[in-house]
Amino acid sequence: MKLIILFIFIGSSFAYRNDLSVHSLALGSQSTLYWRVDPTKEIIQFEIHYTGEESGWFAVGFSNRGELTPADYCVLWIDWHLKVHFQDAWANNKGIIEVDSYQDCNDFAWKRSILSNMTKFSFTRKLDTCDERDYIIERGTTHIVWSKGTGPLSNLNGLNIITNAISSGMSRTELLRTVSHKRPEFPSDTWKYQLLADHVNVPQVETTYWCRVEKLPEALRQKHHVLQFGPVIQPGNEHLVHHMEVFHCAGASEANIPLYNGPCDAADRPQATQICKKVLAAWAMGADAFVYPKEAGLSVGGKSFNQYIMLEVHYNNPERIKNKVDSSGIEFYFTKTLRKYDAGVIELGLEYTDKMAIPPHQELFELSGHCVTECTGIGLPQNGIYVFGSQLHTHLTGTTVRTRHIRNGNELSPLNYDNHYSTHFQEIRLLPEPVHILPGDSLITTCTYNTMERNNVTLGGFAISDEMCVNYIHYYPNTRLEVCKSAISDDALRTYFRYMREWENQDTDFDTAVSKSYQNIEWTKLRVAALHDLYQAAPLGMQCNGSDGSRLPGLWNNVAATQVKLPLAPPARDCHLINQ
Ligand SMILES: *[C@@H]1O[C@H](CO)[C@@H](O)[C@H](O)[C@H]1NC(C)=O
Ligand SMILES: *[C@@H]1O[C@H](CO)[C@@H](O)[C@H](O)[C@H]1NC(C)=O
Ligand SMILES: *[C@@H]1O[C@H](CO)[C@@H](O)[C@H](O)[C@H]1NC(C)=O
Repeated sequence: MKLIILFIFIGSSFAYRNDLSVHSLALGSQSTLYWRVDPTKEIIQFEIHYTGEESGWFAVGFSNRGELTPADYCVLWIDWHLKVHFQDAWANNKGIIEVDSYQDCNDFAWKRSILSNMTKFSFTRKLDTCDERDYIIERGTTHIVWSKGTGPLSNLNGLNIITNAISSGMSRTELLRTVSHKRPEFPSDTWKYQLLADHVNVPQVETTYWCRVEKLPEALRQKHHVLQFGPVIQPGNEHLVHHMEVFHCAGASEANIPLYNGPCDAADRPQATQICKKVLAAWAMGADAFVYPKEAGLSVGGKSFNQYIMLEVHYNNPERIKNKVDSSGIEFYFTKTLRKYDAGVIELGLEYTDKMAIPPHQELFELSGHCVTECTGIGLPQNGIYVFGSQLHTHLTGTTVRTRHIRNGNELSPLNYDNHYSTHFQEIRLLPEPVHILPGDSLITTCTYNTMERNNVTLGGFAISDEMCVNYIHYYPNTRLEVCKSAISDDALRTYFRYMREWENQDTDFDTAVSKSYQNIEWTKLRVAALHDLYQAAPLGMQCNGSDGSRLPGLWNNVAATQVKLPLAPPARDCHLINQ
C-alpha cells in the first residue's frame, strides 16, 4: 500500500496525511483500482495497477448498471513507436471505441516496472464533466467497467472493447465516499474481535454462500458497544470475497445454538441456526470499515443478549479459480466504556406483503412505502433522532432506491438515494452528514424495478424472487419505534380487484387470494397504468411498530399518504454552455 500511495500522489497538489482517504477495489484478479475523492474540486484521482505486457492497452470507465457497452472509458494505449497515449472515449452498443471530442480524463501519469511486469497509471476525472458522452459520477453505487488487450495500436478509434479484449469485467463500489466524520478516539479498553471463515476451500462455482456460527467471547456477558466493524480479507483473495454479513441469533438469552461451519444452503445445516438473521454488520466489496459516530455505539452483549452470531461470506468466483483457501471475515472493535447513546435501527419502506405487485415486462415501475407523520409523531423522541447510516435493500429487480424527507409538506434533502442500485452491492453506508429527523416528519421510500425479463407478475414478499423496498436507517438515540412501513390499504385493494372483475373481466377477488388475483390479471398497458395510479392515490395500511414487535397506539388503517406540497428541485449542474 505504501508504495502505491507514494506513487499516486507524486505531484498532487493537496496534502495526504490521512491514509483512510485512499480506497481500493480489485478489477478481476490482475488489476487494482485505487482512488481518492477531492470534494472541494469535485474530482476523483484514480490510479490503476495491472500486470501484463508493455505494449497492451487498458480501458477503465463507467456504465449505468455494469454493462461493458455502451460505456464511458479512459483508455491507455501504446503505438508502434512505443509512445504512450491516454484518451477519453466512448464505446457504442457494439463495443466500438470512438474518441470523445472533449477530453476529460486529465492529469495522466504513467510508470512501468519491467521487474514486476506491472504498469501503473493515474488520472483525474471531474464528477460531472458536462459532456453528454460522459458518465456523471453520483452518490451511491458506481459500476466500474474495465477491459484490456494486446497492442500496439495505430489509433484508438475503431478498437472493439469486447472482441479485441483478452479480459474484461465489472466491479461495483461506492466511489464517492466522503470522510467527513473523522474517526473518533477509542477508549483504551477497546479490543478487537474477529469472526473469520476457517480455511474454506472456495468452490469452483460462481456463487457460494458460506456460513459460520460462533459463540461470542465470555466478556460479552456484559454489555458492550461496537465502535467500528470492517473487513479482514485474506491477501490474494480480494477479488473472491464479494460481500459479508454478521447476524445475531436473536433468540432467548440462554438458548444454545449449534455451532456450524459450511455452505449456508447445505442440507445438514442445523435448523436452529435459521434464527441467526438480525443484521449486526454488513460489508460489500469495495467498501471500507464502518465507524460509528462519537455519540453512539451498537449495543451487543449483556444479560438478555443471546451469545451466538453467524458470519455469512458470499464468494464470487466467475473465473472459477481453483485451490483457493480463504479465511476472511469481519473485525469488530468492542468497548465496555459505553458511549452516550445506543445506536438503533428503524425499517422504512414497504411492508413485506403480496398486496404490492410489479407487472411483468416493465422497464421502470415504482413502488413507495411511507413512514407517515402520525407514526414519527408518537414514535420519535421530542428532540428527534440523528440518522448517520443507511442500508438500502431490494431483491433482484430493484434498480433505484430513494428515501425522501418531508417536513410540513416541504421536501428537504433526501435522506439517502442510489440511482444505480444493485441487490449485489449492499452495505451499511455512512451518510455524508447525520440527518436530523423530528417527530411529525415523514419519510417516503421509493424503489424502481425492472421486470423486462419476467413473464409473470412480481409480488412483494420474502422469497428472493419476490420484491422488497426497504431502507434500514441507523441512528441515535435508540428509541422504541422500529418499523415504519406501509402497503396499500385492504379496502383500496379490495375495491380495485372488484373493479377489475366487474369492468375488466379479470379473475380477481381480494378475499379469496391476493397473490392469485394479481397473477390472474392479463397485463395490458392500460392496466399497468391503472395499477400505478392506484398505488399513487390509495390510502395506506401502516405498520408502526415498537421494538417489542407490538403496534404503537393509533389507527393505522386507511391512513392518507404523505402530500408533498413543495417538492425539491433537481440538483443544479454547474455546466457552461460550451461543453453541451
Ligand atoms: C507479463 O504478464 C502477462 C500477463 O499476465 C504475461 O502474459 C507475460 O508473459 C508477462 N511477462 C513477463 C516478462 O513476465
Ligand atoms: C408463470 O405463469 C405461468 C402461466 O400463468 C405459470 O404456469 C407459471 O407457474 C408461473 N411461474 C411462476 C414462477 O409463478
Ligand atoms: C407489527 O405489529 C403487528 C401487531 O403486533 C404485527 O401483526 C405485525 O406483523 C408487525 N409488523 C412488523 C413488520 O413487524
